[in-house]
Amino acid sequence: MESDNVLEEPKKILCVGLVCVDLIQICESFPKEDSDQRCLEQRWQRGGNASNNCTVLSQLGAPCEFFGTVSKGVFADYVESDFRDLNISCDNCIVHEGCDFPLSSVIINKENGSRTIIHSNRNLPELTAEDFHKLDLSKYCWIHFEGRRNTSAISAMMRRVVHYNEEERSENQPRVRLSVELEKANRTQLLDLIPLCDVSFVGKDFATSQAYSTMSDTIRLLKPSLSPGSQLVVAWGDRGAMGVSKDGKIVQSIAYTPTEIVDTLGAGDTFVAATIFQLVNGGSLQESITFGCKLAGAKIAIEGLKNLG
Ligand code: FRU
Repeated sequence: MESDNVLEEPKKILCVGLVCVDLIQICESFPKEDSDQRCLEQRWQRGGNASNNCTVLSQLGAPCEFFGTVSKGVFADYVESDFRDLNISCDNCIVHEGCDFPLSSVIINKENGSRTIIHSNRNLPELTAEDFHKLDLSKYCWIHFEGRRNTSAISAMMRRVVHYNEEERSENQPRVRLSVELEKANRTQLLDLIPLCDVSFVGKDFATSQAYSTMSDTIRLLKPSLSPGSQLVVAWGDRGAMGVSKDGKIVQSIAYTPTEIVDTLGAGDTFVAATIFQLVNGGSLQESITFGCKLAGAKIAIEGLKNLG
């Protein structure tokens, strides 16, 4: 029986989106088409933006959970045990037996650390709003959504959280805060999610695909979509990041580019996770994006997403 003195478990950060396996080959230089060569090294890595966000958050010491769809088989087993090794919960994931696990072939060019991703997702269904309704929202302090193609389902999931905050949450519980990442080019529909969120992250590829040419341009054009008191963060690779704080102030951080760039895979995911971590822990937007840029800089100086702590 639960008693009043039982300490409540700390609330988790939930990251909703993709988990895949990244099949990585590190090459001396970017390969010529129709050539035949050996790579310098190869490895598997658990990938996908939301899954990478969790890898970073858990190393920073934040209790976190991944929520997405998975299939069964060797890749699913690998991913599950890797989540467990890092103390990332994946207990609520939706299993679709008989589907292929999403995979990415990734070429990392040793000359400059660039990552070229060829992603395959043949038949694994996206999460639905019904899947999301099964979650007990009182367990979370923050829910971050990777902006995927299932925009209307994501919008329904966010509206479920808004309803929970307004109608179901008990008074002594904090509001569950919401964030979204708009990263992939041309997913224009994702713009509809901005007014529902406390924090919206917009990446350079998304921004330039909308013909926003700079960080300031992106801020100027998207600021009117923010609901009162919410924040916008724009990340621009080696130009750093810029944001609009709750009171409408513009904040900015430089990029902390290391002398040698080893591996840029997941740098954007590192930035988002580190920024959320600081915000959850009471940091200002300025402090949070600066921390995000610093950790993203530290990430590109090393291989993979582990050993960031
Ligand atoms: C990096 C990443 C990879 C994955 C790809 C999916 O941001 O999440 O781990 O293969 O993007 O688009």
